[in-house]
Amino acid sequence: MQSVDKRKILVTCALPYANGSIHLGHLLEHIQTDIWVRFQRMRGHETYFVCADDAHGTPIMLKAQELGVTPEDMIAGVREEHMADFSDFLISFDNYHSTHSEENKAFSEEIYKRLHDKGHIKTRTISQLYDPEKGMFLPDRFVKGTCPKCKSEDENGDSCDNCGATYSPTEVINPRSVVSGATPILKDSEHYFFDLPAFEGMLKDWIRSGALQEEMANKLSEWFEQGLKQWDISRDAPYFGFEIPGAPGKFFYVWLDAPIGYIGSFKNLCNKNSSIDFDSFWNENSDAELYHFIGKDIIYFHSLFWPAVLEGAGFRKPTSVFAHGFVTVNGAKMSKSKGTFIKGRTYLDHLNPEYLRYYYAAKLTSRIDDLDLNLEDFAQRVNSDLVGKVVNIASRCASFITKRFDGMLSTTIENQALADEVMNAGDTIASYYEAREFSRAMREVMALADKVNEYIAVKEPWQLVKDETKQQEVQDICSLGINLFRIIMIYLKPVIPQLAKSTEEFLNDELLWDGHKTLLTNHKINKFKALLQRVDMDKVNAMIEDSKENLLETDSKTVATGPLADDPISEEIQFDDFAKIDLRIAKIINAEHVEKADKLLRLELDLGGETRQVFAGIKSAYQPEDLIGKHTVMVANLAPRKMRFGMSEGMVLAAGPGGKDLWILNPDEGAQPGMRVK
Ligand code: MSP
Ligand code: ZN
Repeated sequence: MQSVDKRKILVTCALPYANGSIHLGHLLEHIQTDIWVRFQRMRGHETYFVCADDAHGTPIMLKAQELGVTPEDMIAGVREEHMADFSDFLISFDNYHSTHSEENKAFSEEIYKRLHDKGHIKTRTISQLYDPEKGMFLPDRFVKGTCPKCKSEDENGDSCDNCGATYSPTEVINPRSVVSGATPILKDSEHYFFDLPAFEGMLKDWIRSGALQEEMANKLSEWFEQGLKQWDISRDAPYFGFEIPGAPGKFFYVWLDAPIGYIGSFKNLCNKNSSIDFDSFWNENSDAELYHFIGKDIIYFHSLFWPAVLEGAGFRKPTSVFAHGFVTVNGAKMSKSKGTFIKGRTYLDHLNPEYLRYYYAAKLTSRIDDLDLNLEDFAQRVNSDLVGKVVNIASRCASFITKRFDGMLSTTIENQALADEVMNAGDTIASYYEAREFSRAMREVMALADKVNEYIAVKEPWQLVKDETKQQEVQDICSLGINLFRIIMIYLKPVIPQLAKSTEEFLNDELLWDGHKTLLTNHKINKFKALLQRVDMDKVNAMIEDSKENLLETDSKTVATGPLADDPISEEIQFDDFAKIDLRIAKIINAEHVEKADKLLRLELDLGGETRQVFAGIKSAYQPEDLIGKHTVMVANLAPRKMRFGMSEGMVLAAGPGGKDLWILNPDEGAQPGMRVK
């Protein structure tokens, strides 16, 4: 490749949140990006691929509290886990950093200062729901209550799953804080805003430059019609993030510093590798290309706020933002109860990462459509294409070359026309890769593999070999087969790098992109070893079983005897149904008989700061004094019930048919009052 053609390319994936595991949805994005990056590298371009964990924000802060660890410790652990997952899926990052880093802090502050100095930051006092018990403002998703439109209960703070209405959390009827259960109050606070409307003209030009996918450009036009609004970039303490310079107690909203994390991660790479020139990638007039691969749910942030922030702060804008759709499994949204919410690690416990890389490639286009991972189709497709078509070429030809010709490939080309056809397909395939039309590239490659297999089938070297006078022909045919397999593997190398590596060992040759224009003659190859196993549906099914959230799991194959026969298991519910029940550890601080009640005991339960009165029908099995001081489990969010003897504010759990045979639940030693049981 001539140096004039050599491009400088910086590529990113969206930064995964540091409070959850990598799943097959994330992996669509990372695999798509990685294939594109590996392709660019093979073509000789100076390409860098960076990512990071997105470590800030309220959900991460609360998750760490829930786990009883510092956010710093939690995000460090999650980052290790994420990096191991990506590495095992062969994602070839040049750097994987964190948004909670020195570099990111410095850039966030610098960018904010520049925006501030240019008058792009405004302040305004707004009124928001506040959890008086927890002492924090509540993001919309941490408010629940009754839908103001259809009156459905227990709906989200900003939208109703029942009627689809969207509203402001302040409109919710009987709102409550998901964090503490308290009723939120309205509280004023000064917020910092980024003046997005000031960038409308620039954004319109940017879209017209043709850098965006058509669907994305259309979306942006809709947003322009609705009118751009000031963007709220501050959050009040307590918040896990960076404090805003000159604004004590105010923090950057996670979505301000998250994309800046792209710059932070690249800077961190430059710090480790002094040959990379940071400025030439991020300067206002940089001639490098910058691409962000993202999911369709975060287009708004990447196509409006991010270019505007960059422009406002004097950095270059992205060359393009590439959005993809969402992964569905077996035609439906990934579901924890069905076992189709599949974590990367669970997949790896059962299956080869290159199966998934190939399957995604075979279905990916440059459009924003969702992609269905149909598991039957997945197995069938991988088996028929990779094993049945591609690897099959090598396994049909290799043993003859090894056994009969001492591993030597012929000096003659048996069928030049076929060889030319396979060699000449390279440019078309490259143009599909470049345009992120991976499914077309895969179709093209598999069509070539079909032709090569057909050629071998017609020639029948396994018959010719029996005839002593046809030995040269056998060597020529099999040599061509091996050569065409080699070229096909060059074309597939960005998708299945591991298989490409084993192929290089087998062929004694490095698979370079430009190698598709040449054939190996009079060249010694190594002994062929099985390159790829077929996908085993049993393993796929085992993966699904492993992915089922086991809270509600029972072994459905067990025959019901005893309690199960008398009282069969209830109708299946979804995890969300279960999650509505708030079970807590409670300490029985008092228990006493209730006058005129022959079944009930009155219990006083300490929930770790709150005391509840509960009437429990366990008198036949327990003496009050046996209970005092014990820990048990209660349903803490059951609507209070007025009984003859007073209010019952919850329910304790017990098992058994009744009478003397009744046992309340005891948590293991160490569980503290108020802890959630889940
Ligand atoms: N932290 C933000 C991104 C900040 S970028 C400066 C975020 N994180 S995420 O973990 O929720 O998602 C990371 C990426 O994975 C996003 O691009 C998102 O669209 C993608 N996906 C998450 N679930 C997905 C599917 N089911 N299918 C395909 N991609 C999905 O958003
Ligand atoms: Zn509703």
